[in-house]
Amino acid sequence: TVMKEVFDTQSMEEELQVHLGIEEVHIVPGDSDVHGWVKKELGRTAVGVVKQRLQPSGNIIAVTGGTSIAAVAEMLVPDSDLKEALFVPARGGLGEQVENQANTICATMARKAMGSYRLLHVPDQLSREAYDSLINEPSVQSILKLIHSATMVIHGIGDAQTMAERRSTSPEVLEKLRRKKAIAEAFGYYFNAEGEIVHKVLTIGLQLEDLEHTDAILAVAGGASKAEAVEAYMKKAPAQVLVTDEGAAKRMLRRN
Ligand code: BG6
Repeated sequence: TVMKEVFDTQSMEEELQVHLGIEEVHIVPGDSDVHGWVKKELGRTAVGVVKQRLQPSGNIIAVTGGTSIAAVAEMLVPDSDLKEALFVPARGGLGEQVENQANTICATMARKAMGSYRLLHVPDQLSREAYDSLINEPSVQSILKLIHSATMVIHGIGDAQTMAERRSTSPEVLEKLRRKKAIAEAFGYYFNAEGEIVHKVLTIGLQLEDLEHTDAILAVAGGASKAEAVEAYMKKAPAQVLVTDEGAAKRMLRRN
């Protein structure tokens, strides 16, 4: 019956919360690896969390790229609280296609929510020299200030191999990721099974340690293929809320 299903989801959410050691877990039915509509449900549920966690004023929402966060953007609707929100991309160029970039998603979110946004125009694959000079640009400095004072961060989590392949990752870095047994990726950081950072894409923006000062952190990641990645990332990550799906949840809890 429907009641039984509702109950089961709730107990699985509690179990997963304990398993991952985080504050809040939401599980939507289905597996987004198998059915595209499940990702939309991830987005819908995430929007609910975003609204719950808004501050009375001064909301600065930093977002990453990826198809999961794009689904969150698609589900946003105008809301009086969101109208005053400012959306910013969490980090600069990570080698993603335009539709998967944080800048694109950030602009879509602001449009859908009727809020405002600022973009961070930083090329991918920065050399140390380019990084050092860009970081001192006044325009970059002013958006960095906003990113660092984000009141909420919404981010995706990816399987390391999948993400490295999706981005234009050099053979040297691919080899390093293999050697260091990278399992998960988030924000352009790669992690091993213990949740330790094994590689980081050099770009400007939010650094992992900045999350310690963020009031609300929401991770959105589903699909059974991401189970190991989500578990690895959550070992050390300061994420508070995870929105995931049944496919990923069951595999994390060894139910399939
Ligand atoms: C990227 C984020 O854009 O999306 C990554 O920067 C994340 O941190 C990835 O791992 C997840 O992508 P998707 O498409 O699986 O949601």
